[in-house]
Amino acid sequence: MDFFNRQNNSLYAEDCSVTELAKTYGTPLYVYSRATIERHWHAFDQAAKDMKHLICYAVKASSNIAILNVLARLGSGFDIVSKGELARVIQAGGDPAKVVFSGVGKKAEEIAYALEKGIHCFNVESEAELARINEVAASMNMPASISMRVNPDVDAGTHPYISTGLKDNKFGIPIDHAVEIYQKAAAMSHLVVKGVDCHIGSQLTEVQPFLDALDRVLVLVDKLADAGIKLSHIDVGGGLGVPYQGEQPPHPSEYAKAIADKMQGYDLELIYEPGRAIMANAGILVTEVEFLKTNQDKHFAIVDGAMNDLIRPALYQAWQEIVPVELNANAPTQNYDVVGPVCETGDFLGKNRDLAIAAGDLLAVRSAGAYGFTMSSNYNSRPRAAEVMVDGEQSHLIRQRESLESLWQGEAVLP
Ligand code: LLP
Repeated sequence: MDFFNRQNNSLYAEDCSVTELAKTYGTPLYVYSRATIERHWHAFDQAAKDMKHLICYAVKASSNIAILNVLARLGSGFDIVSKGELARVIQAGGDPAKVVFSGVGKKAEEIAYALEKGIHCFNVESEAELARINEVAASMNMPASISMRVNPDVDAGTHPYISTGLKDNKFGIPIDHAVEIYQKAAAMSHLVVKGVDCHIGSQLTEVQPFLDALDRVLVLVDKLADAGIKLSHIDVGGGLGVPYQGEQPPHPSEYAKAIADKMQGYDLELIYEPGRAIMANAGILVTEVEFLKTNQDKHFAIVDGAMNDLIRPALYQAWQEIVPVELNANAPTQNYDVVGPVCETGDFLGKNRDLAIAAGDLLAVRSAGAYGFTMSSNYNSRPRAAEVMVDGEQSHLIRQRESLESLWQGEAVLP
């Protein structure tokens, strides 16, 4: 559930009129709801309350420091995949001791930075990476806590680009070879083996693949115990889906409880890495209709938001709901493709949408809080959108709209 509601004919973000926000901050504009972010985080936290647990929000989903700060104030941990994400967490007041570092290609410099900042653990994805972390830790004369990301070969049943737990994906180590790799890790001078983790994909709408993966991981935990390797945590990754178009994913509490139930009898800390489930429905992208255009029988609503602002529809054919910010009783309903100004046929926010709109109206793309702004770019030299967070009746600009100068910042002409 989120706090974007219609009051009479107008869309509100908590107690702020979205029309007023657009007037104040311009469009395209990302608007996030603090109450929604907090509500989603608490749903995970509550569901796992009977066991030792840590919620490590996946920073890649939406990484503005105001968002990270709201979560840090709740006591959240963070799942990061780069030095830049760790720097953001620290800048936002997050605790590095609650950070797990995922990703297949950590550079030595990133490992050193994370060790220096004292992160909770590296989620290691290959033997080569184990060796690299050991080497960097040795050179700094520090221990490095590690967890192996295993690939359980479970089909998450999601879009191929966001499915990560199959054996032909680049992620993790094959679960069948895990015991011998753990033994090698345990023998390395500067590694401290702490846990195991797995992340099988994103936008999962059923609980079963998570439970199947967990079953396989728990078999490994038992095998490791028999081999004298005792773990202190299990990290079940992220991946819980959200309703974009009528999907009915399990509620975070149902999902987290199903996982927690399976963990009964294991003395392990449980780590979750949710990204989308916390942020997707906590944000919208507000855009203005510039022109309505008809080519033969096809109607287009040309808006000022584009694939550079929100690439999910173009990249994954993702469907996100598009609603008018103010209901327009005077406009006829037509079937539109909602497209941006970028010079690509793939530049659309939504296709075949029945909308009653006129030029100058505002539209809101729902469920845009995750993988929206973080995947945005300057393609076509478009300054990136502003970001705002609402908190009750208050709104706060949390990222300025980019200026023209920022487009060429750091560039130089030849002497
Ligand atoms: N942990 C790891 C190791 C991950 O790779 C991911 C996401 C997460 C946690 C968080 O997953 P979530 O709870 O958000 O599903 N750009 C795509 C999604 C890519 C997800 C990548 N990994 C999209 O817009 O659908």
